Amino acid sequence: MNRVAIAGADLEFDCSSAETLLRSGLRAGLGMPYECSIGTCGECKFEVLEGEFECEAGPHFAGLSDRDVARGRMLACQARPKTDCTVRLRLEDRFVPIIPPAYHNATLVSVEAIAPEMMFCRFQSDEPASFRAGQYARLLLGEMQAWRAYSMCDLTNDRGHWDFLIRPVAGGLASEALFSAGAIGQSYLIDAPYGNAWHRSGARRIMCIAGGAGLAPTLSIARAAAHDPACEAIDFLYGGRTPVDLCAAALLDQAARPALRIDCHDVVSGEASGWAGARGLLHDYLDATFPQIEADVDCYVAGPPPMVDAVVDVLVDKKNVAADRIYFDRFFG
Ligand code: FES
Repeated sequence: MNRVAIAGADLEFDCSSAETLLRSGLRAGLGMPYECSIGTCGECKFEVLEGEFECEAGPHFAGLSDRDVARGRMLACQARPKTDCTVRLRLEDRFVPIIPPAYHNATLVSVEAIAPEMMFCRFQSDEPASFRAGQYARLLLGEMQAWRAYSMCDLTNDRGHWDFLIRPVAGGLASEALFSAGAIGQSYLIDAPYGNAWHRSGARRIMCIAGGAGLAPTLSIARAAAHDPACEAIDFLYGGRTPVDLCAAALLDQAARPALRIDCHDVVSGEASGWAGARGLLHDYLDATFPQIEADVDCYVAGPPPMVDAVVDVLVDKKNVAADRIYFDRFFG
């Protein structure tokens, strides 16, 4: 175990050589900034003052410039200490994990196709499944024992149910590990929860805007809002390449309650013969369909980075939504 000191903050924590600085810091309850966890966004940069680190694929990641590398900066989501060390990094209250991530052994108990391109997977752990709606977990999968991140699609619970929506991909790591004969009943390691775009209760109305894999976290957020007595209305916008990608409306039906209005907007971006619904890109649909967005609406956005960035631009620049009412997760693939 290595001891990590944070310069100027009078803080120390333990970090094993097998763990990244980011994950150990979050497990210790520190507000370490992060977003993608895979080395691309640069949000978790830090400076090495003393000690040695290693990164699995070397120090060069999209999230670091050559200048960063020359100045001894590394990414906390990629760097693992080899010795005791001293680092300089910024800590922010908004990143303090409300539930620090922890490892859970869980059994895959059910797999079900809920749409042609979407599988529902439930894992069961002995401990409660504790997370905020909209957060994600890391799953250790396959013979290669590789980690993959998936958002929980349901709500925190004491039953130990970890529910995910996973798209089958022929030959893909998750598909081979979870959808093959004999997968049900197997034990898997879950590391959770992560992510900062979780549901904040108290809003009178929310908008969930999702594309692709952004369905699971926004579904979880909508379900949490449905349990929030303050919430009167949810607009759920979901974009897929084809109509078979769209399954949000059926899943949201389960969240309905009498005093809650849920409006689903399905938008297809690709070829879709026979599709009579909305077509095009999600941010264009948002712009055209919602002439204005009231100041008390909370907006949750999840999906591929270009989609998220385009939607956030529309919300901020064209609809004047305050930045602190927009919560987003980019899914870097
Ligand atoms: Fe480390 Fe994005 S969180 S680069």
